[in-house]
Amino acid sequence: MYFLFLLISVAFCKILVYAPAELKEAVRNRYSHSGLKSSLANFGNPPYGSSIVGRVFYREAEKLACDAITPFNWNDEESINSPILLVERGDCPFVVKARHAQDIGAKALIVIDNREENPENVIMIDSGTGGNIYIPTLLISESDGNLLKLYLEEKKEAVSLMLSFEVPYRDGHINYDIWMSSENVKIQNFLHQFYNVGAKLTKKQATFVPHYVLWYCDDCANHGFTSDNSNCVSGGRYCAPDPDGNGPRTGRDVVIENLRQICIYKQTENDQDYSLWFKYMKSYNTTCEDMEACTEKFLKDAGIDHKKIKKCMDDSFIGNKRPILDDNTLLRDEFNTWGKLGLSFYPALIVNNFTYRGDWESSAILKALCAGYGAYQEPDLCSQDQSPEKAESSNSTIIFILILSFALIGAIAVFYRMWMNREMKEEMRVQVNSTVNQYFAMSDSPRNRRS
Ligand SMILES: *[C@@H]1O[C@H](CO)[C@@H](O)[C@H](O)[C@H]1NC(C)=O
Ligand SMILES: *[C@@H]1O[C@H](CO)[C@@H](O)[C@H](O)[C@H]1NC(C)=O
Repeated sequence: MYFLFLLISVAFCKILVYAPAELKEAVRNRYSHSGLKSSLANFGNPPYGSSIVGRVFYREAEKLACDAITPFNWNDEESINSPILLVERGDCPFVVKARHAQDIGAKALIVIDNREENPENVIMIDSGTGGNIYIPTLLISESDGNLLKLYLEEKKEAVSLMLSFEVPYRDGHINYDIWMSSENVKIQNFLHQFYNVGAKLTKKQATFVPHYVLWYCDDCANHGFTSDNSNCVSGGRYCAPDPDGNGPRTGRDVVIENLRQICIYKQTENDQDYSLWFKYMKSYNTTCEDMEACTEKFLKDAGIDHKKIKKCMDDSFIGNKRPILDDNTLLRDEFNTWGKLGLSFYPALIVNNFTYRGDWESSAILKALCAGYGAYQEPDLCSQDQSPEKAESSNSTIIFILILSFALIGAIAVFYRMWMNREMKEEMRVQVNSTVNQYFAMSDSPRNRRS
């Protein structure tokens, strides 16, 4: 059960102490190497494949960074080209702190945790205002933070760190998986932009698999998956939250669309690349009025034979009550793989068995994929100019992000619960209805205020 879970790690940022030597030694004594434990935020645009070396700045009076920060004079000293701001967790979301750090020109933000825990287990998510943040944000433990503060505040020394953003590599080929669900607007928008990358990578360069996150209905499980639930197929084995409340679409529509996309992916089996799937996803969106008519159009635009897709979908149901009650082989595989993976959020990108942290922005993700080639020859598209700072996002994008984050918060709450349950019991229990409270336990919010 936990086999795959152990193989998946989080793409990490290594924090190495550069100076002073005494601090370096203190960290080495603590961890047997000179790196601090950290967790990289799920927003921002980490410079994968490269490092940031810089001096650390901390100001006790503005340690929470919940309000705009008074600028530092780091431009005065030529040697400081990558200032790193150190702040403390609490009182406001991580993204707010990151924005304030970015506004005064910091190149990275390090947040000190405010409770005893392994920072690697904390997922800092975008609370809805993470658009336009490109600096990376990292969380370190309370005790490591106190150590840094000791040198900065009491000993008044200059502390320098090296943050390196790594993706492990093996050879001149990468594996990447995207975990998603078809109704997720964030992933829809991302795939519209990402077409130019995804469709161009050949199978020689990259193995790609799209995966779909599915829920199950607890109540249906108690009845042996024999009942019809409008948000599910297969008697409640595979479900999705209702995407539009009182609107016409149901969770079942979402699951069926997920299945369609799996079948489209299967059509690329003998191709040189995955462009067929990416072509469909480029036009796929859930903002259209008549989804059935639109789906037909999406298939036609991508040049996909809808009969083949329908056959694949039909054949994947076993039995003859399809799709209301019969089990489904393709969905079952997805469900089981997700369960073994032990991930607590989606959409998620896994590159060379490492979970990506950062924005769902095409250029940021391309950077992470390219870093996955390491020292080997990378595809040409990696060397084309893709600087993320130039990426602009309009007000409508921000509003959009706000809306979709409500959906995400719900999803994260569900998965956090699932993850907690996995820890406590040796069983996976997913509830379609879950409160938002658990979400706040992972991130930071006024509810968790500790000051
Ligand atoms: C969604 O798809 C429909 C049908 O192809 C299209 O008319 C519409 O412009 C698309 N909307 C967005 C936001 O891409
Ligand atoms: C990822 O894990 C699989 C086993 O699940 C293994 O076969 C593969 O070599 C790993 N890939 C990398 C790049 O480490």
